[in-house]
Amino acid sequence: MENHPPVRVERRPVSEEESRRANGPDWDRYADEYQATHGEFLGDVGFVWGPEGLTEARAGILGDLAGRDVLEVGSGAGQCSRWVRAQGGRAYGLDLSFRQLQHSRRIDLDTELPVPSVLGTATALPFRDDSFDVVFSSFGALQFVSDIDVAVAETARVLRSGGRYAFSITHPTRWMFPDDPGEEGLTASQSYWDRTPYVEIDDATGVVAYVEHHRTLGDWVALLAGHGFVITDLLEPEWPEGHERVWGGWSGVRGRLTPGTAIFGARLD
Ligand SMILES: C[S@@+](CC[C@H](N)C(=O)[O-])C[C@H]1O[C@@H](n2cnc3c(N)ncnc32)[C@H](O)[C@@H]1O
Repeated sequence: MENHPPVRVERRPVSEEESRRANGPDWDRYADEYQATHGEFLGDVGFVWGPEGLTEARAGILGDLAGRDVLEVGSGAGQCSRWVRAQGGRAYGLDLSFRQLQHSRRIDLDTELPVPSVLGTATALPFRDDSFDVVFSSFGALQFVSDIDVAVAETARVLRSGGRYAFSITHPTRWMFPDDPGEEGLTASQSYWDRTPYVEIDDATGVVAYVEHHRTLGDWVALLAGHGFVITDLLEPEWPEGHERVWGGWSGVRGRLTPGTAIFGARLD
């Protein structure tokens, strides 16, 4: 929820098409600032699961990656996939934002570790059935998607039997609090169970400019189980001692008291 044109905020239902039409251009507008602000923390060849800085090297949620076919959904500038490539995995990126993919290409050239990537959306993966051993998203795509049932079904379709799925999202309990890294962000002000999307409307045009969708922890369990996944992990990284980074609504002030990130791991049965 950073760097948007002057907007007004509403809570209202938003379709998948409207979400996509808003969030693609929003990420195009925001990509340069996002990479300038967070690129160093992410690392050109680096896999962090969220603002707490938990790396996949430490979490090990994806298992052995060498020789595996891997898809990152909402890959942004491909930092995570590039790290997977460095571990010997055949990682591919998919993202809704052309500008994010241009950053990915820039880093490909700088590092000489290219991540083949495609412009697309999580709800219509342009791959054959049973194409991948691992699918993951590090804060990519999922909370921007309205048709989450379709996105999880698409993941199950392109994964091989026994394949791994893992993703990080804003911890669902954060939905109750204002998106504020300071003390203000510690007082619950809305219902955890209210799934009505967060919508920003461009003041000048009246067009939906940004959307975020919310699911409870129970919703995620039901979604994964409903598509044939066995949940293997739910990590809630603690805020590390001495970590003073502020990233949107994530900060030490909140992170020392409440979880900011949830990382689900699952296996397709
Ligand atoms: C917070 S970034 C995460 C990217 C990367 N993992 C990182 O840490 O920088 C979210 C990404 O999801 C992408 N995204 C949003 N909606 C999407 C959708 N429906 N399908 C695929 N990608 C989407 C955005 O364009 C953006 O690059």
